[in-house]
Amino acid sequence: MRAVTTTAPGGPENLSLIETVENPPSAGEVQIRTVASGVNPADLLQRAGLYPPPPGASDLLGLELSGIVHDVGSGVTDVAVGDRVCALVDGGAYAELVNAPAAQVIHVPGGLELRDAAAVPEAACTAWSNLVDVAGLTAGMTVLIHGGSGGVGSMAVQIAHALNAFVISTAGGPERCEQVRALGADVVVDHRSESFVDVVLEVTGGRGVDVVLDVVGAAYLAENVRALATNGHLVVIGMQKGRRAELDLGVLLTKRASVTGTTLRSRPAGEKATIVDGVRRHVLPLITDGRVRPVVDTIYPFSEARQAHERLAAGGVLGKILLTP
Ligand SMILES: NC(=O)c1ccc[n+]([C@@H]2O[C@H](COP(=O)([O-])OP(=O)(O)OC[C@H]3O[C@@H](n4cnc5c(N)ncnc54)[C@H](OP(=O)(O)O)[C@@H]3O)[C@@H](O)[C@H]2O)c1
Repeated sequence: MRAVTTTAPGGPENLSLIETVENPPSAGEVQIRTVASGVNPADLLQRAGLYPPPPGASDLLGLELSGIVHDVGSGVTDVAVGDRVCALVDGGAYAELVNAPAAQVIHVPGGLELRDAAAVPEAACTAWSNLVDVAGLTAGMTVLIHGGSGGVGSMAVQIAHALNAFVISTAGGPERCEQVRALGADVVVDHRSESFVDVVLEVTGGRGVDVVLDVVGAAYLAENVRALATNGHLVVIGMQKGRRAELDLGVLLTKRASVTGTTLRSRPAGEKATIVDGVRRHVLPLITDGRVRPVVDTIYPFSEARQAHERLAAGGVLGKILLTP
């Protein structure tokens, strides 16, 4: 089978399409013939040698895919050959045939194009688990979602809107702000020209937000805590602008607020299965009834994985980039 891999850690020029052996699915696994693979910032870090795959994961890049079930390992009962699925994997999604744990496979609803479903697993699992399981977002709460224009953010804004939360989001530039508003954000702050804390405090009458979902990291830590309401939760999932920052514990204590950091990839299989199940039960119905849709920016063939990585690194992508075999 063909797969995209790195010849050596480095830039996108090190990506190449190779012929490699396919492995049959092990017990509890589903083998999927890939229709599309999602491209994530983690893939760019792994390619550069900065984010090694967890023990036991494929060396090939790729954390999510969609396709048709080609084979199933022993013990798999709820997924059958020929099913339309998408899946979250620990690695190896940039390949024509991918083995995924059955517990991390999601059936794709009829109304969603199978190719676009490759944009669902990573974003939906990250958005759902952090907004709802970690931060406890429910109807009527106010949430600040940074980067509503990104792969995770575009999904998070739609999910939070569908949950009937009041959604404030950030994006870079007027056009992207308009696009995020169209996804369901009530207020969008242009982070290039406005202070998100000022806007949050203004639109909440000085109260702040119940939840912040942050993809920026150190550069926003102090302002994110300032933007929190009493008993608010800040969940940091990205470190695009640094990993070290000073935290004023006085502000945190006075607000009785919490700061949590999470990563999806490093979670044990059991936790991933629980998150995927939450997405199946709560996000899939929203996709089925059209309230949430994966946002796909550009689709490249496997042979142009280099261009896909260059495009994601350059910024300005709305939602996700996909690769197709
Ligand atoms: N912890 C986890 O489990 C987990 C899972 C998935 C992803 N992540 C991480 O989360 C981050 C986002 O992932 P992604 O897939 O959404 O990436 P992406 O599609 O590349 O999106 C990046 C987003 O960050 C926004 N951004 C950049 N600088 C910003 C700033 N100063 N203020 C506000 N927003 C800013 C961008 O907005 P504009 O382009 O509009 O400026 C864009 O929406 C990455 O760092 C990724 O590694 C973590």
